[in-house]
Amino acid sequence: MSIKLIITKDYEELSARAAGVIARQVKEKPNSTLGLATGSSPIGLYDCLVGMEQAGELDFSQVRSVNLDEYVGLGAEHDQSYISFMKEHLFDRISIDQNNTHLPDGHAADLDAEVRRYDAVIDSMGGIDIQLLGIGHTGHIGFNEPGECFTKGTNVVELDPMTIEANARFFASEADVPRRAITMGIGSIMQAKKLLLVANGEGKAEIVYRALFGPITPAVPASALQLHQDVVVVIDEAAAKVIRERT
Ligand code: GLP
Repeated sequence: MSIKLIITKDYEELSARAAGVIARQVKEKPNSTLGLATGSSPIGLYDCLVGMEQAGELDFSQVRSVNLDEYVGLGAEHDQSYISFMKEHLFDRISIDQNNTHLPDGHAADLDAEVRRYDAVIDSMGGIDIQLLGIGHTGHIGFNEPGECFTKGTNVVELDPMTIEANARFFASEADVPRRAITMGIGSIMQAKKLLLVANGEGKAEIVYRALFGPITPAVPASALQLHQDVVVVIDEAAAKVIRERT
């Protein structure tokens, strides 16, 4: 396996280090295709990228992006849709042309057609240069819950009860959390040229250990990363607790 593991003292340093990996990619190839992610973990990293462009160190005007996932039934009108998240935390704050940003359409009437359209979007960009990932408590990447095979492209998934519970904090109640999502598959993610996973906090320590050091198994979707040839993992000390204890 070729996972480069970076353990930082805290979330602030994690965000800066991970932003540095993406910044290097954009400097080397200004029209890079970035695979982007939502969730609380990458928020600090996005803030760093915004700061770098404001300081004149980075230029997003030629960058293209594809996001991992979107809730079925939510769109730009809902503040918890992933399109809203991306606009709030990144797209509305940088020079990227929003016509070059892509997410699955949570309102698509024909989900099968939407899945095919999204795979074609990724293909039309010549693949993803670097894919950013968080990790769910179930070990999910994107919304690929335990049990998914590692070869799938974009698909529609049922969310795991643990994920619904974890994401309920963003909605008025657990009942309001959508039950389904459209997500890039693990196969799509594995085809990215480079992967960058970020995780922080003690709550992620056990699953991060299992993903990076446990058996490679669909029971832990993020364990697929062990099969990729170019992975950078940036975690803080709290998320590294179990790795420190057992390795
Ligand atoms: C969400 C997203 C994932 C994200 C994960 C962890 O449901 N679909 O892409 O990585 O769960 O979220 P957080 O970073 O808030 O812990």
